[in-house]
Amino acid sequence: MTEHQASEHVHEVLPPILELQSITKRFDNVLALHDVSMQINPGEVHCLLGDNGAGKSTLIKIFSGVHQQTSGNMCLEGASISFANPREARDRGIATVHQGTGVLPLMSVARNFFVGSEPTRGKGVLRRMDMAEARRVSLEQIQALGIRRVEDADQLVGTLSGGERQALAISRALYFGARVLILDEPTAALGVREAQTVLKLIRRVRHRGVAVVLVTHNAYHALAVGDRFTILIHGEAADSFVQGERTREEVLNLMAGGEELEDLQLELEEIDAEFTPSA
Ligand SMILES: Nc1ncnc2c1ncn2[C@@H]1O[C@H](COP(=O)(O)OP(=O)(O)OP(=O)(O)O)[C@@H](O)[C@H]1O
Ligand SMILES: [Mg+2]
Repeated sequence: MTEHQASEHVHEVLPPILELQSITKRFDNVLALHDVSMQINPGEVHCLLGDNGAGKSTLIKIFSGVHQQTSGNMCLEGASISFANPREARDRGIATVHQGTGVLPLMSVARNFFVGSEPTRGKGVLRRMDMAEARRVSLEQIQALGIRRVEDADQLVGTLSGGERQALAISRALYFGARVLILDEPTAALGVREAQTVLKLIRRVRHRGVAVVLVTHNAYHALAVGDRFTILIHGEAADSFVQGERTREEVLNLMAGGEELEDLQLELEEIDAEFTPSA
């Protein structure tokens, strides 16, 4: 390497691990996404914010191979890519934890962790799932995310708290090689403490250099852990900014669409008027 190349190397800016360029997605006559561009970087939490129907799930389903865009381009580490199905995306290190977390409540922690890819011992007809190994690895991985209360790998997942289930799904994705971790509303069904548990584990995952995409309705949660933000309104990227560039009020107003809140006040007054007996 020449000196010149070496210095260039130092200043090299890595491409985003995942990038959308002018993505449009149409379902028959519904325009779910229009001309959306965004970049997902390693070691960052990118929050995708927006109201119901804004297009958040549609967008992450394009990342994760569930849907294909109608037009526009997706790049993985700078090279154009298209996933025909979720398995292709997973094989390239893009893991999605859907809202239900995809865990099986009637199976143990260890079995859930390895479902579909069990560690085995022995050969041929003597091949068995190595349960001791499954127990050891699953507990080790969950606890490494700071979830210490899960101590029994035989505990049924149905008896775990919501935050602990998220931890199971997330640690499993990381163990199987996720470089991009997409979380769809991971705190939506959780109480205050459980949500905090999940936000802390998102922070730990980010420190490992994983790129996190956090889909949420909750501006407080997003601002607590996000590095970069994209707000979708009616399928369009209405705003994008980095941590510190917007106040909480600005974000809340953007998400609600300030005018709509004023409209609500008027509409509530109209309803009150309907129920007010006329003199
Ligand atoms: N498979 C589909 N077929 C037809 N229309 C769809 C399909 N999936 C989504 N849509 C439409 O696309 C729009 C965006 O939906 P999407 O689920 O992405 O919103 P969202 O932001 O995830 O909303 P929520 O916050 O309620 O989960 C909606 O109008 C929805 O009805
Ligand atoms: Mg959704």
